[in-house]
Amino acid sequence: MKKIMITGASGLLGQALVRTFGGKYEVIATAKSELPDALVNKVEFHQLDISDATRCKDLIQELDPDVIINAAAYTNVDGCEDQREVCWRANVKGVENLAVAARKNMALLVQLSTDYIFDGEDGPYGEDDTPNPLGYYGKAKLASENAVRVVGIPYAIIRTNVIFGTGIDVKNNFFLWLYNSLKAGQNIRVVTDQYNNPVAADDLALGIRQLVDESKYGVFHLGGKEYLNRYEFAVQLAEVFGFSTELIAPIETGELQQKAPRPMKGGLKIDKAAKTFGYAPRPLESVFNSLKNRLK
Ligand SMILES: NC(=O)c1ccc[n+]([C@@H]2O[C@H](COP(=O)([O-])OP(=O)(O)OC[C@H]3O[C@@H](n4cnc5c(N)ncnc54)[C@H](OP(=O)(O)O)[C@@H]3O)[C@@H](O)[C@H]2O)c1
Repeated sequence: MKKIMITGASGLLGQALVRTFGGKYEVIATAKSELPDALVNKVEFHQLDISDATRCKDLIQELDPDVIINAAAYTNVDGCEDQREVCWRANVKGVENLAVAARKNMALLVQLSTDYIFDGEDGPYGEDDTPNPLGYYGKAKLASENAVRVVGIPYAIIRTNVIFGTGIDVKNNFFLWLYNSLKAGQNIRVVTDQYNNPVAADDLALGIRQLVDESKYGVFHLGGKEYLNRYEFAVQLAEVFGFSTELIAPIETGELQQKAPRPMKGGLKIDKAAKTFGYAPRPLESVFNSLKNRLK
C-alpha cells in the first residue's frame, strides 16, 4: 500500500484528503499544531510546521512517504498583503523545504496552487496560460510552483479556486459564511463581478486521488463544474437550502475595499484533468444537497 503524507491536515482540504485517501492508502496526517479532537486517533499524526526545514527533512526521512500532498498554506489573501514575511515563510519557504526533503527518496510532491496566479483579465484559464499575479498571495503561490519545479523531484502542481465545504473546526470559507449568515437571517452583500468555478473540497480531494492513483505528473487545473459569479453562487445556495434570496444584495468588488486586488474573471479550465485522469466534479446543486444533509 502506498504511503501518503498530508500536510495541513487540519485545514478544509487537508481533512477532505485524509477522508478520501483513507482505506485505499496508508495515510499520515501532519499539521502545524494539533488535529481537531474529533480526528485524533482516527489517523496516524505527526506535528509539522513546514517552515521548519530541519523538521521537514527529519520527518520525511523517518516516514519515507511515496507521496507528499501539501495542503498547508497561509490562505488569508488580504493578510498576505500585510504579513508578507509570514506568507513567504509558509507559502514559499515551506514548499521549498518539502521539495528538498522529498529529493532524498524522490517522493512525488503534490503542491496546491491557485487561479490567483492569473490577473483575471480573461479567465477561465488553461494550464499553459501566462501567469500574472495581482497580489502578494498569488505572487507567493507562483513562487511556490517554481520552487517545486527546480528541485528535481517528481511533482504535480494542482491549481484550484474557491474551495468550499465543511469540516471540523475549519476556518470560515465563502460557503460557510453564506450558510451561517443566511441561516441566521442576516442581510449580506455579495459581489457580481468576480467569476470563477468554485469546487467542493471533497471533489477536489477525489480529483487529487485520481491523479495519484494514475501517477500523473505536471500541472493540472481542478476547479468546479460551473463557471459563475459569487452572487449567482450565493443565490443557488440559498435556493437549495431554502433560505431567502432577498437577504442577498448584489454589489461590486470596489465597494468592499479589500486590501488585496482580486482577479475578476478568474477560474480554471478543467478539460486536461478530465481527459487525463477522469476528473469529474459534481454540479453545484448536487454538492449543495449533499452539504445540506451533512449540516443537518
Ligand atoms: N481555500 C481556497 O479557496 C483556495 C483556493 C485556491 C487555492 N487554495 C490552496 O489550497 C490549499 C488548501 O487550502 P484550504 O482552503 O484547505 O486552506 P485552510 O483551510 O486555510 O488550511 C490550511 C492549513 O494549513 C495550515 N498551515 C498554515 N501554515 C502552516 C505551516 N507553516 N505549517 C504547517 N501547516 C500550516 C493551517 O494550519 P493553522 O490553521 O494551524 O495555521 C491550516 O490547517 C492551500 O495551498 C491554498 O493556498 C485554496
